[in-house]
Amino acid sequence: MQYIKDQENLKDMRVLLRLDLNVPLKNGIITDQTRIDKILPVIHLLLRKESKILVISHVGRPKGKVSSNLSLKPICENLENKINKKINLIKDNIFKLKKEDLFKDPKDQIIFIENIRFYGEEEENDTNFAKHLASLADIFVNDAFSCSHRAHASVSKITDYLPSYAGLQLETEINALKKVTSEIKKPISCIIGGSKISTKIGLIKNLIPKFDNVIIVGGMANNVLKYKGNPIGKSINENDCESIINDIFKIAETYSCSIIYPEDVVVGKNMDDVSQIKELHDVQNDDLILDIGPKTIKRIKDIIDNSETVLWNGPVGYFENPNFAVGCYEIAKKIIERNKKKLIYSVAGGGDTIAVLNKINVTQNFNFVSTAGGAFLEYLEGKELPGIKALN
Ligand code: 3PG
Ligand code: MG
Repeated sequence: MQYIKDQENLKDMRVLLRLDLNVPLKNGIITDQTRIDKILPVIHLLLRKESKILVISHVGRPKGKVSSNLSLKPICENLENKINKKINLIKDNIFKLKKEDLFKDPKDQIIFIENIRFYGEEEENDTNFAKHLASLADIFVNDAFSCSHRAHASVSKITDYLPSYAGLQLETEINALKKVTSEIKKPISCIIGGSKISTKIGLIKNLIPKFDNVIIVGGMANNVLKYKGNPIGKSINENDCESIINDIFKIAETYSCSIIYPEDVVVGKNMDDVSQIKELHDVQNDDLILDIGPKTIKRIKDIIDNSETVLWNGPVGYFENPNFAVGCYEIAKKIIERNKKKLIYSVAGGGDTIAVLNKINVTQNFNFVSTAGGAFLEYLEGKELPGIKALN
C-alpha cells in the first residue's frame, strides 16, 4: 500500500479524494460532524502540498436517483467554514464533465462532486464510470475507510485507472483496528444494533466464532424477535431472514457463544411519540419497537460487567428521540464506568454510534472510536475489504 503522506511533488496535481461524508442529517442539518472533522488532516495536507482536490462522497442511499434531501450541500458548507475556504459544489451531470472544465479559476483548490450515489453506476462498480472518474484527475486517494467494505466504482474500480494511495484517516483506522484484533482479551462481547439490517445480519454468523457474547439490538433485533414468534407491530424488519437467523443460533451453539436479544422493549406509535415499556407478547399491531426495555438493559449490563473487551456498532434504539435513547445511554455509561477503572477494553464504531457517544460527551472514554460501522464489522470478520484490497 502506498501512502499519500509519503508523496512529494503534488503541486497542481489533481487528486480525486474519496471521502465518507455520510454524516447523520435531520432536515438538512448535520447532527454529528465527526466524519467531517476526521478528514480535515488530509484536506490540510493536500492544501499544503498545493494540490487541486476533487472530492467524491456519498450521503445516504439514494439508489441511483437524484434526491434533493441527500445533497452534499450542507456538508460542503460545513467544511467551507471549518477550513475557511470556498468550495465549489458541482451539480452538473458527471458524464458531462471534462478535466479541462475543472479548476479553471486558479483560485479553485477544492471542488466537490454532488452525491456519487445519484449514479447507479457507482454501486454497480461500473468500469466506464470508474474510467470517466479517473479521467478527471491525476491520482486517487482513498480516505474513506468507513466505506471501503463497498466494491463501488469510486472506492474500488477507480484504482484500476489511477495511481492510488491511502489517506491519513484510512491509515489511522487500519492501524488501530490491527492493534485491537491482535491484542484482544477474552471474554469478548459484541453489541450490534442500528437499522442497516441487510448489511449486518449476514455477517453476524462469521463473528460468532470470535466472540463469547453477541448482543443483537436496534432494528436488527426485530428480525430475531419475529423469528422467535413474537409480535413486532409495524417495526422495521427485513423479509426472508429466517434461514440466516437459524444459522446464527446453530453456529452460536457450536462455538458456545451466547446470543442475546431483547427480553422486553420500549414502543411508541410513531417516532416522535412518548415511550411505553412493554413485555414482548404485549406489542400491538400499531406499535413501533424503538428501544430495549429495563430487563434487557440489566442483562446487557451484567454481560459487560463480565467482559474484558466490548465492541459496539450500531445504536440500541431510536436515540434521535430522547424518549428512546435510554438503552443507548445506559449501555454507554456501563462501558465507560468499567473503562475508567481499566477493567475493559472498549471500541465503538459507526456514524450513528459516534453520534450517540458525542451526545453524552463520552467518546473520549472509549479506547478507540472508529468512524466505520459496516466496514468495522467486516474488518473484525477477518475479511479483506474491497477498497483496501484495491490499494494493495
Ligand atoms: C456507513 O455509513 O457505514 C458508510 O458511509 C457506508 O454506507 P452504506 O452502508 O450505505 O454503504
Ligand atoms: Mg452510517
